[in-house]
Amino acid sequence: MKYLIMADDKKLIKVTIDNITIDVEPGTSILNAARSIGGDVAPPAMCYYSKLKGSGGKCRTCLVEVAAGSTADPRPMPKLVASCRTNVMDGMIVKNITSEKVMDARNGVVEFLLINHPLDCPICDQAGECHLQDLSYEHGKESTRYEFKRRTFEKHDLGPYIQLHMTRCILCYRCVFTADQLTNKRVHGVLDRGDHSEIATFIEKNLDNDFIGNVIDVCPVGALTDKTFRFKNRVWFTKPVDAHCNCSKCCGEVQLWMRGDEVFRVTARKDEWGEIKDSTKGGTGWICNECRFEKKSLKDWVVEGPSVINRHSVISQGHYVDLVTPKETISAVMGGRSPKLLMNIHDESAVNKQNIELSKLNRPAHSDDFA
Ligand code: SF4
Ligand code: FES
Repeated sequence: MKYLIMADDKKLIKVTIDNITIDVEPGTSILNAARSIGGDVAPPAMCYYSKLKGSGGKCRTCLVEVAAGSTADPRPMPKLVASCRTNVMDGMIVKNITSEKVMDARNGVVEFLLINHPLDCPICDQAGECHLQDLSYEHGKESTRYEFKRRTFEKHDLGPYIQLHMTRCILCYRCVFTADQLTNKRVHGVLDRGDHSEIATFIEKNLDNDFIGNVIDVCPVGALTDKTFRFKNRVWFTKPVDAHCNCSKCCGEVQLWMRGDEVFRVTARKDEWGEIKDSTKGGTGWICNECRFEKKSLKDWVVEGPSVINRHSVISQGHYVDLVTPKETISAVMGGRSPKLLMNIHDESAVNKQNIELSKLNRPAHSDDFA
């Protein structure tokens, strides 16, 4: 199978990842080359964020095996490499899901990330859209071998909009780069070293920059969450829709997380890698604090339609976009005849009661709502 990702007039180089050969521009990282193939071939990335300069190289979840360095020097690389920080060479052969060593190392990295991360998904607002939760399901173990006390931290107040749970932080630095590159007044960073490292505001200043809310969107775990949405709903009970408004500060292109007619949360739009999408007006679609935290009424927005959600995500439950029900299936398979007996299996297999649509409830669902 062959893919071509750049224009013909550029000198392209060849790389083979999990037996798929593609042509990419020189200077492309292995991770981005793998993303151009897509699917499981793309390694997971907890710290790399293509929209943030300098990101990557912190979490090691993107490790891959380089079975041949290049056509000029086909020796394998002695150790697994971070694919977000290693560029492809002409003739390079890379193994990701086809390498046992990589799978073993990824299991180890996940175990390491979970040493201090609390398993509080049932009460965490990030549950259902947390990259570490997904990774734990794919590579985690049922129990931990860690016997020591988990890290604890003093509480930091990050203002009226952002909640910091330092115990959940995996020190990916994405929020630090976001604050550094998007705002003119960075007041938070990583303090201390090693086991004591923590994201903190310097002298607990409020983070009052117009674009600081974007740290919530880039955080891969539930360390930074939206105070205006906290504990209000589970993401899989809400319906994400694309919407826009005329905003003088940002692109105004957002996702509304709705339940019935109520807007529970506003976020930037994300792509298939969980990164903020580019705006249709050009540039990255970062959104301002006013759009994110203040515009919680449908009147503030022009709704474009349901967001496209990956069907493997728990958020896609009950979220059918462009559902086409074939009308003539039965007569087609029966050669034009009508069936003598027809059983509606939807009635039999439905989880919620027939007269209840979970996304329209203006309260949490409880056991009475299910059949
Ligand atoms: S708070 Fe979130 S984004 Fe910031 S370093 Fe920790 S895990 Fe990364
Ligand atoms: S994504 Fe490459 S090291 Fe984190």
